[in-house]
Amino acid sequence: MAVRIVREEGDEILRKKSKEVDEVNDKIRELLDDMVDTMHKYNGVGLSAVQVGILKRLVVIDLYDNKGPIKLVNPVIIKTKGEQEVEEGCLSFPNQYAKMIRPTEVVAEALDENGKKIKIKAKGLLAQAICHELEHLDGILFIDNMIPNTLQYVEPDKSE
Ligand code: NI
Repeated sequence: MAVRIVREEGDEILRKKSKEVDEVNDKIRELLDDMVDTMHKYNGVGLSAVQVGILKRLVVIDLYDNKGPIKLVNPVIIKTKGEQEVEEGCLSFPNQYAKMIRPTEVVAEALDENGKKIKIKAKGLLAQAICHELEHLDGILFIDNMIPNTLQYVEPDKSE
């Protein structure tokens, strides 16, 4: 388990398309664990492998509820429903937030960390996080689809 370096805005790897994972083995599980550590270190809700410099279709999400971190291998969204206006940020864009429109509900399929096929029905913040992280796998960033002129820089709270 280790915290990895998060690639930030301007790093060209963030624009690349990630490749499907052929086999969910120990190396993939170790990477997923490192991604969870990295996400937790920076208080993120989600992280994709490309953000730690690895072009594999891997995503971790944690809403800090009792469900624990979710680890997804080769995730795809198969259904979306509704619209919600949300505020969104990204660990690759520290302290920046923008408004955007996301679906209120998504259904996604993926493999879990044991290579078992799973289906996730998500609403609200989880739906938003799934959309955001899956876009990373195709080199799409939240600033691409934000509502124009809503990007804000928020000074970090140094009291924490
Ligand atoms: Ni992001």
